[in-house]
Amino acid sequence: MEKDDISLSDKEFNLVKKRLLEVAGISLSNAKRTLVISRLSKVMKKLSIDSFTKYLDFLDSAKSTKIDKQNFVNALTTNLTRFYREDHHFDHLISHIGKVIAQKPRIGANGRPRLRIWSAGCSTGQEPYTIAMCLISKYPELKRWDFKILASDIDTDVVNKAAKGIYPESELAGLSPERARIFERPGDGTIRIPKEMSKTIIFKSLNLFDPWPIKGPFDAIFCRNVAIYFDKPVQDKLFSQLGDVLAPDGYMYIGHSENVGRNSTKFQLVGKTIYGSLMSQEKSNVA
Ligand SMILES: C[S@@+](CC[C@H](N)C(=O)[O-])C[C@H]1O[C@@H](n2cnc3c(N)ncnc32)[C@H](O)[C@@H]1O
Repeated sequence: MEKDDISLSDKEFNLVKKRLLEVAGISLSNAKRTLVISRLSKVMKKLSIDSFTKYLDFLDSAKSTKIDKQNFVNALTTNLTRFYREDHHFDHLISHIGKVIAQKPRIGANGRPRLRIWSAGCSTGQEPYTIAMCLISKYPELKRWDFKILASDIDTDVVNKAAKGIYPESELAGLSPERARIFERPGDGTIRIPKEMSKTIIFKSLNLFDPWPIKGPFDAIFCRNVAIYFDKPVQDKLFSQLGDVLAPDGYMYIGHSENVGRNSTKFQLVGKTIYGSLMSQEKSNVA
């Protein structure tokens, strides 16, 4: 506990857990108690609220704004990510999209070949930017395609940060010179994503348990290290819905400690945490 931290009773901790589960599907374990205290104490201090009971009452009252309710969620998400995380996924993606380009691209309403990828739970953006950098540098012709990456997250703070596309140079640690060379380096200690790559990405704040504004189909879905924060029934529901918007020849990439649970009729495992769609063309939604 830090000196300014506000004490949290068992009853209050249970109410925090219940609220987060209801609004974000996130299950907090008892091990997260210290994290809850330190992160929410900062939020409460800004509001001049000195107890968790008062804070929870405030969130339930008409006095709290949408931003106050959002700040509760933002404070409790875990946003760890990095460029090229689990890079075997990107090798697979490059090969998959190579086949899409060579075989039978879908043609969009605008007459251009269409490619759609979703980074669901994109955090501060390293995942969707890695997708864009890998694909555009390998297949420059995609610049002429109707190619869009949807990058979404429930946490509005990380989405705003992601949309800026500016990171400290330390993010290059561990990247090969070939990968590091793609970033722009303005000389002020930051690295930036080249416009020709960042412009393919649409950033959006989206709770995966609210209605989705997009029907797909997606040629690839990255939903990595997101479901680990949900309990089993919630994970099953999420992967089932993702299966419905994945293209029949599409792939879904998930985190190293995750699996699709009861959705074995929708996906087949084709590689380490890589799933191919088992849905037929007719069942797939087409927007
Ligand atoms: C650990 S990060 C994973 C980032 C990236 N996918 C990766 O693997 O590097 C998990 C992200 O899931 C987001 N998240 C958690 N619950 C969510 C929900 N209900 N809807 C959308 N995003 C959620 C969090 O805000 C967080 O940014």
